[in-house]
Amino acid sequence: MADVDGLKVAKNYHVNEPFAKNGGFHVKGMQDVDWGMKKRLSKIFQPESGHTVMLAFDHGYFMGSTAGLERLDLVIPPLMPYVDVLMGTRGAMRTCIPAENNKGIALRVSCGSSIVDEDLSHEVIGVSIEDAVRMDASCMAVQTFIGADGEKDSLENLCKTVDAGLKYNIPTMGVVAVGKQMERTSRFFKLATRILPELGAHIVKTYYCEDFEEIVSACPVPIVVAGGKKLPENEALTLCYKAISEGASGMDMGRNIFQSTHPEVMAQAVNMIVHKGATDKEAYEFYLDVSSQSK
Ligand code: R5P
Repeated sequence: MADVDGLKVAKNYHVNEPFAKNGGFHVKGMQDVDWGMKKRLSKIFQPESGHTVMLAFDHGYFMGSTAGLERLDLVIPPLMPYVDVLMGTRGAMRTCIPAENNKGIALRVSCGSSIVDEDLSHEVIGVSIEDAVRMDASCMAVQTFIGADGEKDSLENLCKTVDAGLKYNIPTMGVVAVGKQMERTSRFFKLATRILPELGAHIVKTYYCEDFEEIVSACPVPIVVAGGKKLPENEALTLCYKAISEGASGMDMGRNIFQSTHPEVMAQAVNMIVHKGATDKEAYEFYLDVSSQSK
């Protein structure tokens, strides 16, 4: 272990220089992965834009039924035309989502804590690699708890999932968790978003924060930004616009879509920013315009 006393603060992020090892493949850092993995990554990150819109509805795996997700079978299917990837548990997918869809599947494979516990940081791998193959997973999502009690176990979960996924060319998405007692500083996010790809994660899901361009620059794989708690629609679209403008490869939004007064219109507005280069203002105008017609 390196002696970290007197460590210099990292600062040379070269934010204006494009990622050097791109080799023409549209997903950052993935030039040298095998064909099957490229195929799955292309199901997630659309080759035309290089970006992705993920719809997160995995909240039930630790929160039970969440406002807006009481009926997954009714809420999720109408949103599917506007997103690229469905992020959820195998139980939710199998029971509530029609198999006849062509969306990517971000399969939640870690579990083990619930909101009944104050400390949510203790998880295990809850899905076998064989079942991820059966589910046709485009990637497997593992929660990681940097700086929390469950840090070591969660990083072990990540490494084991990466190893299992490599056997079948299924990418792993490392999810940066934020907890009540955990930091939400750019220093924390810089640490977490670098540790995960160094351990083999092919995608990192994290939160938007200040110095985001530096975070993207120092992370050698695509970053997908979490939506977080429900915001007014204009603020959620601004969050999305800032994240994409500053280098995120996509959004993974849950509550800001399914808790919106007009979820389908909101999903389309997010899609405009992520894939079509719309500004937050243009996307919000679209939202207001279309939602006023559907009242
Ligand atoms: C993240 O840790 C989990 O995947 C969440 O369930 C998901 O990110 C929640 O999405 P949102 O915060 O946008 O509702």
